[in-house]
Amino acid sequence: MKVCIIGASGKLGQYMVQHALDRGYEVVGVCREHSVEKLDRFNGRITVIPGATDDREVIKRAVAECDGVLTVLVPRGVHGYSTGTAQAVLDYARPGARLVFSCGWHISRDGQDVYSRKLKAIVNVFGPLARLARFADLDDQVEACRRIFASNTRWTVVRGSDLEEGESQGLPVWSRHVGDPVLDSNVTRRVDFALFMVAAIENDELV
Ligand SMILES: NC(=O)c1ccc[n+]([C@@H]2O[C@H](COP(=O)([O-])OP(=O)(O)OC[C@H]3O[C@@H](n4cnc5c(N)ncnc54)[C@H](OP(=O)(O)O)[C@@H]3O)[C@@H](O)[C@H]2O)c1
Repeated sequence: MKVCIIGASGKLGQYMVQHALDRGYEVVGVCREHSVEKLDRFNGRITVIPGATDDREVIKRAVAECDGVLTVLVPRGVHGYSTGTAQAVLDYARPGARLVFSCGWHISRDGQDVYSRKLKAIVNVFGPLARLARFADLDDQVEACRRIFASNTRWTVVRGSDLEEGESQGLPVWSRHVGDPVLDSNVTRRVDFALFMVAAIENDELV
């Protein structure tokens, strides 16, 4: 199994690299040039392709011949970074490849999610402020996911809950909608968010 991890140098990305190696997968990682050194501890065990994750040529090269592609969608800046990343993956991943994307809780596919007032307030207040400061654009992740949902690829979009660091507690439970009772605790270890994404590659129930 050969997998590409896009956004490999981030916290989530590095955990995914480790889980993929633990499973014996061959790993190709993509990250921004100045972040390559964050992957030093994996030297000799993974192939790193430096570049912006919305650079279509970088993604084309990285996902070639990969059976799975794990993508961290980050809505940083106001230039459609997440959307560009997602579109490049959709366009260049091998037909039939397993595509798994991470995003935030504000994404809804069918509008059936029930959000807390706190989450809605964060999105309504932080969203416009972040955009104004040209720091991040939450709608960019919305558009990226809209394109993923509309594609006929073998995709899974994984919405993280609140994340915390710490030892693994095992594979997290999941549910289709925010607000489903099983998700009540709303806290997941970041290492387990990564575990869920890597495990999704071989879980066809999650396609
Ligand atoms: N944090 C949370 O509580 C939370 C909750 C729910 C869902 N999520 C989702 O989980 C995923 C990652 O979350 P995380 O908190 O664990 O963060 P993370 O893994 O540290 O990811 C941050 C990523 O963003 C990249 N990045 C940072 N600044 C950037 C910039 N200015 N331009 C382009 N890329 C930039 C980083 O690349 P470099 O290494 O190059 O800096 C890294 O790949 C996201 O999809 C997020 O929506 C997070």
